[in-house]
Amino acid sequence: MPGSQPFDKYAEQYDDWFEQNHIAYETELKAVKHFLPDSGTGLETGVGTGRFAGPLGIKNGLEPSKSMRAIAKERGIDAVDGRAEKLPYNDGEFDYVLMVTVICFLDDVRIALDEARRVLNDGGIIVIGFIDRESPLGQMYEKHKNENEFYKHAVFYSADEIGHLLEEAGFENLQFVQTIFNNPSEINEIEEIKPGHGQGGFVVVKAEKHVKRL
Ligand SMILES: C[S@@+](CC[C@H](N)C(=O)[O-])C[C@H]1O[C@@H](n2cnc3c(N)ncnc32)[C@H](O)[C@@H]1O
Repeated sequence: MPGSQPFDKYAEQYDDWFEQNHIAYETELKAVKHFLPDSGTGLETGVGTGRFAGPLGIKNGLEPSKSMRAIAKERGIDAVDGRAEKLPYNDGEFDYVLMVTVICFLDDVRIALDEARRVLNDGGIIVIGFIDRESPLGQMYEKHKNENEFYKHAVFYSADEIGHLLEEAGFENLQFVQTIFNNPSEINEIEEIKPGHGQGGFVVVKAEKHVKRL
């Protein structure tokens, strides 16, 4: 089943999570922002309803679900139809590519990373926010995923696995930060962003594209 199907059916419900868990949302935004460049042309792949692209000032979004795209468009995102595994953009078009909680829904992560690298210019960066399967929160999501309409079909990865996939795709200079050390529904104040991974449920990795010249 395509990873976008539940999102298409329950787009409003998905979007509402950010209202219900707004401190966790602010925390995740802060962690993603930590690695995003202040300028340049960015793309968010799997932009969803634009909850990250909107406040982060990213104008270009790719999203396979029509109902998620419709909400992203209301937030001012140029949300186009497509999948991370086959990006409808030219080589070297972007300074950075962002993916937030999308990796776990992809049919083929390796192809998606190759595609992200293709559309980045030389020196461009990829930023990926994801639920770390090896963290305490990741273990809880994994254990209960069958009870959740969205995560039922998700494949969660560890930070080491994402790191290896990025390196295999040719990315360099990986850096990790982590946050969300408590259950998102119980967070009362914006949490710290700490280097590395292992404890935080939400991990953000940044990696660079450098074209090798002979
Ligand atoms: C958990 S949501 C995240 C949305 C947004 N990035 C956010 O953090 O709010 C996952 C999104 O990935 C999209 N998605 C699923 N399969 C995809 C694919 N192959 N390529 C791109 N996006 C995909 C879904 O439609 C959904 O909007």
